[in-house]
Amino acid sequence: MARITFVQPDGSRQSFESGEDETVMLVGVRHNVAHLPADCGGQLACASCMVDVAEPWRERVGPPGLDEGDMIEDALGERPPGRRLSCQIGITEALDGLEVLLPRDRRPDRQG
Ligand code: FES
Repeated sequence: MARITFVQPDGSRQSFESGEDETVMLVGVRHNVAHLPADCGGQLACASCMVDVAEPWRERVGPPGLDEGDMIEDALGERPPGRRLSCQIGITEALDGLEVLLPRDRRPDRQG
């Protein structure tokens, strides 16, 4: 289990404990975190679960996988530093305290 903090574009913060074998996306969806629609349910098919990993955590979380990185680039036309699909971030004890930001530029049809 690990504690994950979600930071909204307005700076508001919510922290939750993960369950067994959860991804960051699943923790957020389970707690109805705003601006995290995760439309495909974690199938790497929608890119609506984007987060920015807080800078101090980026090395530990690691870069996006090949398909994940392509999906981010297809959605945004670029790969912002620290940007990940939260359904692809499996939570381990090493990520206890992880902070992710919900980006404003997630997708053109998902602003707000
Ligand atoms: S939930 Fe669809 S790509 Fe992550």
